[in-house]
Amino acid sequence: MASPHFICKLNAVTRVYGSGATEVAAIKDIDLTIEAGEFTVLSGPSGSGKTTLLNQIGCLDAPSSGELILDGTAVAGLSSRALSHLRGEKIGFIFQSFNLVPVLTAVENVELALQLAGRPDEARAAALAILPKVGLGGLEHRRPNELSGGQQQRVAIARALVKKKPVLVIADEPTANLDSANGEQILALMQELNATLGTTFLFSTHDPMVIAHARRVVSLRDGRVVSDERRDGGEPAEASAAEVS
Ligand SMILES: Nc1ncnc2c1ncn2[C@@H]1O[C@H](COP(=O)(O)OP(=O)(O)O)[C@@H](O)[C@H]1O
Ligand SMILES: [Mg+2]
Repeated sequence: MASPHFICKLNAVTRVYGSGATEVAAIKDIDLTIEAGEFTVLSGPSGSGKTTLLNQIGCLDAPSSGELILDGTAVAGLSSRALSHLRGEKIGFIFQSFNLVPVLTAVENVELALQLAGRPDEARAAALAILPKVGLGGLEHRRPNELSGGQQQRVAIARALVKKKPVLVIADEPTANLDSANGEQILALMQELNATLGTTFLFSTHDPMVIAHARRVVSLRDGRVVSDERRDGGEPAEASAAEVS
């Protein structure tokens, strides 16, 4: 029997911050498997451990105990150089606050991801090719302050996807700074990219609209997984992915 391809697997992952009286276990004993091609929403109230968990999976931070396997590689014990190489190769990040470089244009922000990944030669062509796919054709040379919040988040999505094959795109509350119409469009865009490119998405939210459209919802409370629900009827978000506002 063919086994499914696991993008990442966490076994009993715990992350404790601080020590002594100030000790906080932000996530506790998390077991979680993400399979290739999944579109998973991590839900939970503020403080439930969503960002901490995403930082573990994205290799931005190391667990206090437990094990993480990312695309077949056990992460524990890797040097920080090996870890940053793994991260650069395999993971695309999208943040709530977009994290664009303000003095760079849209195309330059996207190029930067490839330059940092050690692939400067292909950067410009790849950046120009991907921007129309996220609905930003014609806006390539604008700076972030000349773009709406929704458009800035599209640049951030292009930046996460421009690496040839990020095995996983991690988005930490990507719609939190957007109004509901723009939030819905960004969600629709990610669903379309998941369907057409097969990119595996994992993102956190406490937005009920996003949760309603997800096929898999992992819920956190106080640092623990309290439910992991797969639904067949995760409806695509309605807004057209090509619309820009
Ligand atoms: N760097 C840190 N130092 C100390 N405590 C932290 C740190 N980061 C997060 N925490 C604590 O861990 C818990 C989970 O936080 P977080 O992962 O940011 O949750 P969420 O993203 O769901 O809001 C919270 O109690 C938070 O205060
Ligand atoms: Mg958070």
